Amino acid sequence: MIEYAESKEFHQLVPMSHQELVAKLRAQLGDYRFNHCLRVEQTALTIAADNHADIVRAGIAGLLHDYAKEKSAQDFKEMIAQQHLPAELLDYGNGIWHGLVGQYFIKAELGITDPAILTAVAHHTAGSAAMSTLDKIIFVADYVEPGRDFPKVDLARQALATSLNAAVSVELRQVIDHLISQQQKIYPVMIDAYNVYGIKQEERH
Ligand SMILES: [Fe+2]
Ligand SMILES: [Fe+2]
Repeated sequence: MIEYAESKEFHQLVPMSHQELVAKLRAQLGDYRFNHCLRVEQTALTIAADNHADIVRAGIAGLLHDYAKEKSAQDFKEMIAQQHLPAELLDYGNGIWHGLVGQYFIKAELGITDPAILTAVAHHTAGSAAMSTLDKIIFVADYVEPGRDFPKVDLARQALATSLNAAVSVELRQVIDHLISQQQKIYPVMIDAYNVYGIKQEERH
């Protein structure tokens, strides 16, 4: 942890110290979500290490993935207009906005511009049809961090013990099942992600 926060790579990607970055995040979030972010950072660091992936980007993206979660609907709508994002986004809510639109607040307010980090934040709730290893790490870390206790979280943790891709697959299926059971809207990109990462291996073309 100390090694990551003080690494040369960290300072190339973030224009402030780790401590200052944590303080900025703290100022945006309530206690529960702030602590969740710290746990996702730790979980992302571990998953990245286990997968020989980019530990520094995983830690930063994990820490910041919910940075915009408590912004107002008005803030998101203004950012959607300012960035000329597709108007169909307005049909969704905070659950989709805090990732896809949240990346622009991270860029504007924290000065982090690394595309891989921003994309991982953008994809953390719905996934995408073309997920990088970093995208997958943040997607899964958010779902299995030690504070999670929803039914079937253990199935995702067991899948992760097999492989990162197995965990992505289980997560997509469980989240989509849950959304359907609650009769909630599914962001189409999540269906696209399912069609690539959620289906059986032999169904893939
Ligand atoms: Fe989130
Ligand atoms: Fe989260």
